[in-house]
Amino acid sequence: MRNVIILAAGEGKRMKSALPKVLHPLLGRSLVGHVLAATESFLDNGTVTVVVGHGADQVRAHLAQVAPAAVPVTQAEQRGTGHAVRIALDANPDITGTVVVLNGDIPLLRADTLAALVHTHETTKAAATVLTAEVADPTGLGRIVRNRGGEFSAIVEERDATPAQRAIREINSGAYVFEAAALRDMLGKLSTDNDQGEEYLTDVIGLLAEAGSPIVAHRAPDATETLGANDRAELAGLRAIMRDRINDEWMRAGVAIIDPATTWIDVTATLSRDAVVEPNTHLRGTTSIGEGAVVGPDTSLIDVVVGAGATVVRTHALSSEIGPQASVGPFAYLRPGSKLGVKAKVGTFVETKAATLGDGAKVPHLSYVGDAEIGEGTNIGAATVFVNYDGVKKQRSVIGAHARTGADNMFVAPVHVGDGAYTAAGSVIVKDVPPGALGVSRAHQRNIEGWVERKRPGSAAAVAAAEANAVFQEREEHHVDPGPVVERPAPDEQ
Ligand code: UD1
Ligand code: CA
Repeated sequence: MRNVIILAAGEGKRMKSALPKVLHPLLGRSLVGHVLAATESFLDNGTVTVVVGHGADQVRAHLAQVAPAAVPVTQAEQRGTGHAVRIALDANPDITGTVVVLNGDIPLLRADTLAALVHTHETTKAAATVLTAEVADPTGLGRIVRNRGGEFSAIVEERDATPAQRAIREINSGAYVFEAAALRDMLGKLSTDNDQGEEYLTDVIGLLAEAGSPIVAHRAPDATETLGANDRAELAGLRAIMRDRINDEWMRAGVAIIDPATTWIDVTATLSRDAVVEPNTHLRGTTSIGEGAVVGPDTSLIDVVVGAGATVVRTHALSSEIGPQASVGPFAYLRPGSKLGVKAKVGTFVETKAATLGDGAKVPHLSYVGDAEIGEGTNIGAATVFVNYDGVKKQRSVIGAHARTGADNMFVAPVHVGDGAYTAAGSVIVKDVPPGALGVSRAHQRNIEGWVERKRPGSAAAVAAAEANAVFQEREEHHVDPGPVVERPAPDEQ
């Protein structure tokens, strides 16, 4: 059994944010969420204690959501990382054996790296094992100090370091494994005799070394894993590293990512092989992309299921399901609760919300479909609005299967259009249309002959009309065949 303590009480002043630093988002999880996720593989039923302080209520609420098994412990005053661990251990007097301590602000740590750190610790029977890394720029970090024999002897914070120590490029990552009794013992001996007047967890290492206890430095295979973020610019740097890491993994798994630099996939999203992700695409939350589906360019999907072979182009979609071989966009907006069946289509400049489209149903152009059910094989005419809101409450409308509704219809909810029914273009449908009926609701058209010539004499319109009438007259006089008679399209066709 391993026990984990995560330090998350700091404010992160340089983020200049109302949000505590460890809650800042990074491709699908908060900073502390990433750290928590990395511990899952080796926990082995152990406890997870999270030290909270700055923004404690916010951090507690977040933990309750993402890691309900983690136990928050409050550090009212931030008196240093050693003080924080002491509070966590005091809250868990029964803990023995392996204790993993992790700074809450090192989100790029891989689960495998942490597992290897724990393994090193347990097989070497060290009192403490520290994850270190060799970095190009160690500014601001604790340095790994070794004695003449090259043995790890202390961690010295930059602000307390001598110039020679500052030149060291091996740094403390902020991930440690301790033997519980040794840790407890040394935490009781920490002083605040340093530049910040804090109890440094890192001083435990020096104390253990002095006492002759075995301490081990375990090098991270990839130094970027140990990077932290102190401000938003650094956080953006971490985000880019994580983006590349995630994209590489999906490409190796058979996903085509056309422009990895502009493709942002949350760690929580999943893709199937032969999926194609076009440039400037964001796949967030629990989004999943089926085999061979094409998403993007310029698309954001948040908690969206995309079926195999579907196409989603220039689309913004939230909490929706897009069926296999369905087609969405360009310029579509799927709001929560949109469900598209197999081969369904939501086309250009279409917004949907709490709407179900049956298999093969189509809403091709310029429409709003809110609180509606559209049956399979039905075609909704261009520029249709489902009038779902009477100013007080939202109501649903239902269009049956294989219906053909005319362009520029208003379906005033609640209204029901039966299977196989038609509606005429320009209709405001307020009453149910029975199956197979044609619903028509619009004023009859009348043409007032010669109106333009009388009311707008001399205008371009009047001149054009006069010319057209002259040509018509000519034909009448010479009996010119006007060509085949073109029938007016039925009201449903567009
Ligand atoms: C710490 C290490 C440093 C290491 C670096 C790696 C110490 C003294 N120094 O420095 O050697 O190179 O991490 O990133 O530990 N926290 C609390 N309570 C406190 C103080 C801090 O919970 O009283 C939490 C913070 O929220 C943060 C973590 O501990 O998640 C580390 O604290 P931070 O102030 O960021 O330490 P660094 O200066 O980065
Ligand atoms: Ca830090």
